[in-house]
Amino acid sequence: MNFVTAPSILSADFSCLESEIKKIEQIPDSWVHIDVMDGHFVPNLTFGSCVIKSIRKKTSLFFDAHLMVDNPSSFLEEFADAGVNAITFHIEETHFPLRLVKEIKALGLKVGVSLNPVTPISMVYHLLPLIDILLVMSVEPGFSGQKFIPFSIDKIQEANRIRKEQNLHFLISVDGGINQDTAERVLSSGADILVMGSFFFKNDFSFVKNFLSTLRER
Ligand code: DX5
Ligand code: ZN
Repeated sequence: MNFVTAPSILSADFSCLESEIKKIEQIPDSWVHIDVMDGHFVPNLTFGSCVIKSIRKKTSLFFDAHLMVDNPSSFLEEFADAGVNAITFHIEETHFPLRLVKEIKALGLKVGVSLNPVTPISMVYHLLPLIDILLVMSVEPGFSGQKFIPFSIDKIQEANRIRKEQNLHFLISVDGGINQDTAERVLSSGADILVMGSFFFKNDFSFVKNFLSTLRER
């Protein structure tokens, strides 16, 4: 199976972010998933552009910033300057998604759109030809370590079906509760990117590495 592994640094040890990122570098086809939360859109606070700027100096890995903030358009330039490669915003955060897509592209970045678990794909139907990444949330956003919501599988399959029928090229990313019990099913449903928080950072690293390389061989 071909897929991108996108460890979420929300679950990393913040006292040694550089060495946590060096772990990600050991995984083939890996990105850094950066969960930005503002305490308004979701009931949790994480980090902003200063942290991203610091880790940008330590690696050339692809950075996808998953914005869980109110008013995402007011942060775009700041995150672009900090060195992210993609900005993923939530459809629930904005009334003007077309404008936001345009603004992100104008900064030379890849664009992702994310859906909360109960938000249907029809909400982003018209955006699908314009975006690079569709991020399907398989838990309510805000915290790592939650359990995968089973109906997310239907949404991944639906996105994959629309992509094939319309010959579109967005990547399907899945975020929340990805581990040894859910990863394979998510990939066989059509996902391309596995976001992993607690599974990646809270387990023994050689176990995680072996799991991912076995999955790749299947
Ligand atoms: C949740 C975040 C996720 C989170 C995933 O709002 O968007 O990226 O870090 O963590 P796990 O993999 O532990 O569910
Ligand atoms: Zn995320």
